[in-house]
Amino acid sequence: MHTGEQALAPGAAVLRGFALGYARTLLAEVERIAECAPFRFLTTPGGYTMSVAMTNCGLAGWVSDRTGYRYDPIDPLTGRAWPSMPESFLALAREAAARLGFEPYHPDVCLINRYEPGARLSLHQDRDEKGYVDPIVSVSLGLPAVFLFGGARRADRPERIPLGHGDVVVWGGPSRLRFHGVMPLKEGHHPLLGRKRINLTFRKAL
Ligand code: SIN
Ligand code: FE2
Repeated sequence: MHTGEQALAPGAAVLRGFALGYARTLLAEVERIAECAPFRFLTTPGGYTMSVAMTNCGLAGWVSDRTGYRYDPIDPLTGRAWPSMPESFLALAREAAARLGFEPYHPDVCLINRYEPGARLSLHQDRDEKGYVDPIVSVSLGLPAVFLFGGARRADRPERIPLGHGDVVVWGGPSRLRFHGVMPLKEGHHPLLGRKRINLTFRKAL
């Protein structure tokens, strides 16, 4: 098992295995959340269907449709508020952020991504939030993936970082607006999640 901290850039690091002790609890919460706010394939403003299925918990959720990207306090699929953020999610996110000195941290949204083999996320910045003072905390569960950690400009060649079950990536401060993405997920089988990867990203969005 990998443990320890791998620095990526100022304000950014991989915390190897940081979420391992939380994994079963987090996954049980994800199941509960998905019963109220099902995973769905969002449409981009350009008319494409994303290959990653998404849902959210917290005070708002990140959604995309033909009109653009936004944080919405109401789930457009159900017409109801998103499920609240579980205490275990908050505790883990705060602990991880604190490792890099980002304290206090009050994320109000957790975007939940579900990848199956072939699903990918192209290079993007997380910039739909109100401010960029607070870091992004990203938790990987299930099948391994290759995370792309780029620079401040889209053209900057990204570093390829393998992420496994329980790894946490934090990017904030001078790295908060770095481009990032995920390479197409490889086929595989994970003992807890089968053919899936679940990623939680915490943000202070509102
Ligand atoms: C994201 O950029 O929202 C997700 C990153 C990941 O799945 O590792
Ligand atoms: Fe992102």
